[in-house]
Amino acid sequence: QTPKILAFAGSTRSASFNQQLVKAAAEAAKAAGAAVTYLDFLDYDMPLYNQDLEAKAGLPASVVQFKALLKEHQGFLIACPEYNGSLTPLLKNAIDWASRPEPGEPPMALSCFRHKVAALLSASPGQLGGMRGLIHVRAILEGIGVLVIPDQKSIPTAHSAFDAQGQLQDEAQRLAVHQVAQKLVEVTAKLNAA
Ligand code: FNR
Repeated sequence: QTPKILAFAGSTRSASFNQQLVKAAAEAAKAAGAAVTYLDFLDYDMPLYNQDLEAKAGLPASVVQFKALLKEHQGFLIACPEYNGSLTPLLKNAIDWASRPEPGEPPMALSCFRHKVAALLSASPGQLGGMRGLIHVRAILEGIGVLVIPDQKSIPTAHSAFDAQGQLQDEAQRLAVHQVAQKLVEVTAKLNAA
């Protein structure tokens, strides 16, 4: 059956390089045969995680919605900026909220993450393209049961990498991003076959 991929960036900046990157990769995933949903965290107003808030009010509606989307998809395509050598608080906060159980779910069920597949991308104006942040994203996701494929791509000097349509100008970079997306679709399809 058609693998379902959820694509999102760890940035809500209006001109986000990582949003441009994940959208380009999402198109490649579609071309590789996946059904792709794009998620913008601007549409998911999540408070900063606070255990007292959770104890008092439960999971916010935005978190329940985000978790439902994660559950509906078998693969995640994620582009995350690097902030001070790590991932953005936006992405960490979303992951932390989603790792919490819904009413009736046992603690640490992690039902929206376990047995899912993810591929990671990053873009940065810097020379390393944000690759140091992805080390942490990988470790966090693997720790909650996501199979993060080894294929990943970081785009350095991102301020001059995209054209006006948000496409990567460099052919080799475009190909590398497409290959990451294709591999995600392939592995997701294989794991969900039968
Ligand atoms: C950054 N930036 C950055 N870049 C990088 O390559 N390594 C880093 O450690 C950091 N650290 C960092 C910290 C903070 C707090 C900010 C706000 C920014 C720059 C970052 O890559 C740049 O702002 C990107 O444009 C962010 O990605 P989006 O929003 O364009 O997707």
